[in-house]
Amino acid sequence: MTATPVGLPKASERHRVTPPAGMPQYDDMPRFDVDKVRGHFPILDREVNGHRLVYLDSGNTSQKPRQVLEALREHFELHNGNVARSVHTLGTEATAAYEGARAKVATFIGATSPDEVVFTKNSTEAINLVAYSFLNASLGKGGDPHVGGADQSRFRLGPGDEIVISEMEHHSNIVPWQLLCERTGATLRWFGITDEGRLDESNVDELITERTKLVSIVLVSNILGTANATTRIHDRAREVGSLFMLDASQAVPHRPMDVVGYDVDFIAFTGHKMCAPTGIGVLWGRRELLEAMPPFLGGGSMIETVEMTGSTFAGPPMRFEAGTPPIAEAVGLGAAVDYLSAIGMGAIAWHEKELTTYALDALQTVPGLRIFGPRVPVGRAGTISFDLAGIHPHDVGQVLDAEGVQVRVGHHCARPTCVRFGVAAMTRASLYLYNTTDEIDALVRGLERVRGVFA
Ligand code: ALA
Repeated sequence: MTATPVGLPKASERHRVTPPAGMPQYDDMPRFDVDKVRGHFPILDREVNGHRLVYLDSGNTSQKPRQVLEALREHFELHNGNVARSVHTLGTEATAAYEGARAKVATFIGATSPDEVVFTKNSTEAINLVAYSFLNASLGKGGDPHVGGADQSRFRLGPGDEIVISEMEHHSNIVPWQLLCERTGATLRWFGITDEGRLDESNVDELITERTKLVSIVLVSNILGTANATTRIHDRAREVGSLFMLDASQAVPHRPMDVVGYDVDFIAFTGHKMCAPTGIGVLWGRRELLEAMPPFLGGGSMIETVEMTGSTFAGPPMRFEAGTPPIAEAVGLGAAVDYLSAIGMGAIAWHEKELTTYALDALQTVPGLRIFGPRVPVGRAGTISFDLAGIHPHDVGQVLDAEGVQVRVGHHCARPTCVRFGVAAMTRASLYLYNTTDEIDALVRGLERVRGVFA
């Protein structure tokens, strides 16, 4: 039996429902030329195991366009110097490029000021930065003395206080809060997941209470692809006076972000999933909160003055960027922001929506394939995890690799989600702006091959 969906009518056409008058119509949706975009990514021309590369692992890390690669080369060839500490020309140019990247990121996510953008190593470090600020503010009676008398009470935690996350989180939005709760005596609570792979918000009022100091929720799940509608959780967090944070690692690369519109306190995301190099991430925080947060790492560049008996500290964002930062990586992130903005985040989101619709349909033609997470392209992104007839995901991944198809297998750093669905591991295809329906077809053909070998 073949389940190859080559030649399926475009799924978006089969599912087409005429939007109400006054709403954007399908033909009005922003689009781009995907073949032209693919031409920007040199790696997409290579072969893997004798097959044309089919890269379906962008949720893990994205590929990099020539525009970003060239920005990195130009930085190292012409402008390399350290930032914020050199008066010479190269240092000044490097500082301008680094701060320019911060300003680009701020605009990209709708921040009111570049000073609200803290560069970190990745999302994990951005989330840890907030967690450690809580911890440091909770030490001793008066909290951390290093923030110029700012009110740290919102960050001070102890027994009776609570942090709320969900079962759908990446480990990076679980473990830092577990550690923080263990160290402060606070309690960690979490939303469950419905059978459809949505956040179970039925107990929102019991979970988020006057005891809640922080709610930190993933915006788009890295394992289920669920795009969480956070309004109810947000409103409840605001009602009880809790801080509200979003792990936006799988959202910012794929759709427009507006931190003011989301009325959020912090978001974390990472560059390497959005066409930038590894080693650069972002914590965005509301200015008055960053002002009140104790430092995380101590060292050069984050101080105001240092004496042998003690030090005073710079304001944000410098307070949180100790040591020589990832300068070239930030420049690469700035170039990635330029690149994605030129294509248009609305167009990228729409492309992925069409592709996800096609992929969900196509995958569901494969006998024995079970999708985890929403099976309809509503409230979900192009990250699709599945089980194929109980065949171990590592075997699935290896056979697909032999066909040139790159997917991720394992627990996806979201083990509680796997446990929720009763599996040790899943196979995951994750889509981005350079993917095509032909590549989905190649995945489905590869899965047929897996079935041929193992089923
Ligand atoms: N968080 C990344 C993923 O989901 C690494 O694959």
